Amino acid sequence: MSKHIEIKKITVNSIRKMKSAGERISCLTAYDFTSASILDKAGIDMILVGDSLGMVVNGYENTLPVTLDEIIYHCRSVKRGAQNAFLIADMPFGTYHVSDEQAVENCIKVIKETGFDAVKLEGGAERAALVKKLTACGINVMGHIGLMPQMVSTMGGYRIQGREGHEKLLADAKALEEAGAFSIVLEGTVTSVAKTITENLKIPTIGIGAGVHCDGQVLVFHDAFGIFDGFTPKFVKQYANVSKIISKAAKSYIKEVKTAQFPEDKHSF
Ligand code: KIV
Repeated sequence: MSKHIEIKKITVNSIRKMKSAGERISCLTAYDFTSASILDKAGIDMILVGDSLGMVVNGYENTLPVTLDEIIYHCRSVKRGAQNAFLIADMPFGTYHVSDEQAVENCIKVIKETGFDAVKLEGGAERAALVKKLTACGINVMGHIGLMPQMVSTMGGYRIQGREGHEKLLADAKALEEAGAFSIVLEGTVTSVAKTITENLKIPTIGIGAGVHCDGQVLVFHDAFGIFDGFTPKFVKQYANVSKIISKAAKSYIKEVKTAQFPEDKHSF
């Protein structure tokens, strides 16, 4: 008898229902088939192929060098690993900034070539017209305000946002909601400001470094599981330290190869 795999695909309607039912939304990034399939089987609600891949996968200093083709490549791998999770593709720096026409073309290309459920764009009220055009084309859009890593140069570094009050960020969030965004990432935002925004929106907020009052949370895969060996920001909780486990196992492997303990007869033909 063949094993039956239960498919309970999360859709934009499921996400909306979670907000109205007060059910928190779980989201993690993933960049390849294997990690996406582990997260999907664990029951994650949403997977984001973030441009954070530029840093944790490609080793760039920031997210700016990531290209549209790189995002598409990683999304296609993630899609093959995830049956149920709602899948979001991060639009890289420069792919939605030149003109709305080019932005719409690029987002359509991503959706067509990856089979993903949504795209994510950084920016507030200044993106509202574009978000409206994309939703009119049938593309689900996730907004991203607060700390916006693609604006690292003009922000003068990775700085927590909302210290001077909630007005600007709330207006940005409202503009995105009115334009048709289905959800908004609040990154690096003062907890009380994230709370005010969350309470004033009908669409869910997904926080990263924005406190406990958001409707959901997102973390970068490599941060959450301790795969990235470098600096761990304050907002990250490390749920495992996989880099330690791999390092220890790699040392054992190297030693066993050097001393001819591996392979044994049972590994040989
Ligand atoms: O690129 C990314 O991984 C992101 C999340 C941190 C929200 O934008």
